[in-house]
Amino acid sequence: MFIKTPDDTQIMTIERHFLEEQQIYPEATGVLTSLLYDIALAGKVIASQTTRGGLAEILGQSGNTNVQGEQVMKLDELADRMVSRLNDHTGRLAVMASEEQEGIIPISPRYPTGKYVLLYDPLDGSSNIDYNVSIGTIFAIYRRKSEDGPGTLDDCLQKGRDLVASGYLIYGASTMLVYTSGMGVHGFTLDPSVGEFLLTHPNIRMPEKPKYYSVNQGYEKFWSEGVRRFTHYLQGDEPDADGQYRKGLSLRYIGSMVADFHRNLLGGGVFYYPVDNKDPRYTQGKLRITYEGAPLAFITEQAGGSSSNGKQNLLDIQPTSLHQRTPLYIGNRDLVEKAEEFIRLYDR
Ligand code: AHG
Ligand code: MN
Ligand code: MN
Repeated sequence: MFIKTPDDTQIMTIERHFLEEQQIYPEATGVLTSLLYDIALAGKVIASQTTRGGLAEILGQSGNTNVQGEQVMKLDELADRMVSRLNDHTGRLAVMASEEQEGIIPISPRYPTGKYVLLYDPLDGSSNIDYNVSIGTIFAIYRRKSEDGPGTLDDCLQKGRDLVASGYLIYGASTMLVYTSGMGVHGFTLDPSVGEFLLTHPNIRMPEKPKYYSVNQGYEKFWSEGVRRFTHYLQGDEPDADGQYRKGLSLRYIGSMVADFHRNLLGGGVFYYPVDNKDPRYTQGKLRITYEGAPLAFITEQAGGSSSNGKQNLLDIQPTSLHQRTPLYIGNRDLVEKAEEFIRLYDR
């Protein structure tokens, strides 16, 4: 059988892409390249488990005891363990931290430590797991600040500005890996038949013209005046400070940040999770700077968008604790500015 392929299409695997990017830096040692590759591998394993969905329950493996009386592991725990296990012994990391674990994850003294720090949200959108809706994994890579030996909490508490690389995997209709190391944003799609991520979305730029706003509008009654007015502005029903109305945008909200973010990155728009007063845990917003905010903020900025906590750029926030939450506005540059404007005007 013959398959026709256009002569001018170059097939670029993720490995080749990482290597080519690495060559731009003559001083590069290849450690970051290998670390990214390990994360891609973890993504493949997690994808293979998420696509099995409820099968795990009946065939063995998730949460409770299955019909055979076997213990089953929850998918978010499994994803958490997969990322840490694939990275704990490679000698590339000084320390890790995961949204699923309270403290830092030290590297066992049995293994060498390396110069990078990995923070991750193993399974984002976990409330969607049972409904066959897109979920994802988010990762953030920093250079260690401590000199050597075991990495510290301080190594994990860095500003988004200091990110070396960040990205996410999305487990959707197809599995994709999207990342930046400060040289643009690149997206790869997993070809499940050969098990390789292939470059399908080189140099992603967020469209200038926004299409969507994404927020859990069910909580509107718990929002501040500024956030409510900003939302009505996005709907085309409220003027900005200059008395200008905009054309209303479409609302899209999946409830998996990775998936909402990914759609807006490709289609144009803004995602936000503001402070709301419904839940005392979320008085500073729900999402975490370290595992969710900063890594996606770096991607956004590299794709031509921006991000804010409502007052300042998310990348400039110095986290003081590992699981620190933040209100978050992320995506189209103009709309993020407008959010800040409404908050400045109405929320004192
Ligand atoms: P996680 O599953 O990692 O805990 O994150 C869930 C987050 C995020 O993915 C999503 O945007 C948000 O929670 C949804 O929250 P609401 O259900 O409150 O809208
Ligand atoms: Mn999350
Ligand atoms: Mn999570």
